[in-house]
Amino acid sequence: MNSDQTYNHLVLDTWRHSRDKIDNRQDIMRELVRYATLAANSHNTQPWRFKITSDCITILPDFTRECPVVDPNNHHLFASLGCATENMLLAAEAYGLKGHVSIDMKKSNSIFINFEPYPVSKSILFQAIINRQCTRTLYNNKPVPIEQLKTLENISQSNNVSIFLSTDQKDLKNILEYVIEANTFQMKDKAFVKKLKEWLRFNTSSAISHRDGLFSAATGNQTLPTWIGNAFFTYGYNIKKENNKYIDHIKSSSGVIAFSSQNNTKENWINTGRSYQRFALQATAFGLKHAFINQPVEVPKIQTQLGNYLNIEKGQISLLVRFGYGPKLPRSLRRSIDHVII
Ligand SMILES: Cc1cc2nc3c(=O)[nH]c(=O)nc-3n(C[C@H](O)[C@H](O)[C@H](O)COP(=O)(O)O)c2cc1C
Repeated sequence: MNSDQTYNHLVLDTWRHSRDKIDNRQDIMRELVRYATLAANSHNTQPWRFKITSDCITILPDFTRECPVVDPNNHHLFASLGCATENMLLAAEAYGLKGHVSIDMKKSNSIFINFEPYPVSKSILFQAIINRQCTRTLYNNKPVPIEQLKTLENISQSNNVSIFLSTDQKDLKNILEYVIEANTFQMKDKAFVKKLKEWLRFNTSSAISHRDGLFSAATGNQTLPTWIGNAFFTYGYNIKKENNKYIDHIKSSSGVIAFSSQNNTKENWINTGRSYQRFALQATAFGLKHAFINQPVEVPKIQTQLGNYLNIEKGQISLLVRFGYGPKLPRSLRRSIDHVII
């Protein structure tokens, strides 16, 4: 198989529901981990590890995969664990299990999910797990029906997480300005660019050998030989062109949603990830695409300005996402579960 064929094979093997009926408890637990790894996660670093016992799965951070320059307090790392938690709970219901979440961030940095038997439920959110993707491309401006916006808002509600959803052009225009200011700031920051480059996979060979990181085609960019990609990213990167892309992307979007973690605690970053993941799955079920525009969240000064604009009183804006109708892009990959089960 050439690298394109291998990539296509891996995509099919990654983004799928369970192949066979699974009865054995240990195999079910491994399958729940597989579903968890299909969650969105910061830079596709897959910063998680899973410990399985007979009735509990523990989700742990993998700090070897943190991104200190972009995410110095690890709030996106913990939000990613929240995304994985939500997928796992939905998949558990499809296997007739109810997961109960308890979080210990003081001693062990662990999310414990204890399972008990429960009626089988293959919810539409569960069905959408294999179709959700972050789609960084142009959308078509089409408005989203009001009742669907209401559902999206309701499904995103979570303890200690505030939601701001808007389809108002004025909000989109103002948020766009924060994105451009933050993107310009980040791309001039050499340490940021260096760290980002470590997670870029410029072609299918690189994507399939790592099975993590940001694959160019999946981020709406052209594939390149790695050495050209690296050189281009170091010397040929055009901030104006990149900003124009964001302007077009945001202008083509139907709306934006911001998620804010109250009191800025690890627990609430996890809750924020859960909240986003539910939003993303429901949006996917409605045929909507979405993509993060987190730049303002990653530059502290602009994060505060955005928080003031959105009238966030306690905590901080953790995630900023645009949504709308658009095409599919090539998929991102995941490492095998044997790499993440400890
Ligand atoms: C907490 C968090 C932060 C993220 N930040 C960004 C971001 O700043 N920009 C972006 O384009 N995508 C961002 N993403 C999306 C991830 O890059 C994406 O989930 C990952 O590459 C896997 O791709 P997939 O979601 O399409 O499977 C973020 C995701 C999470 C969960």
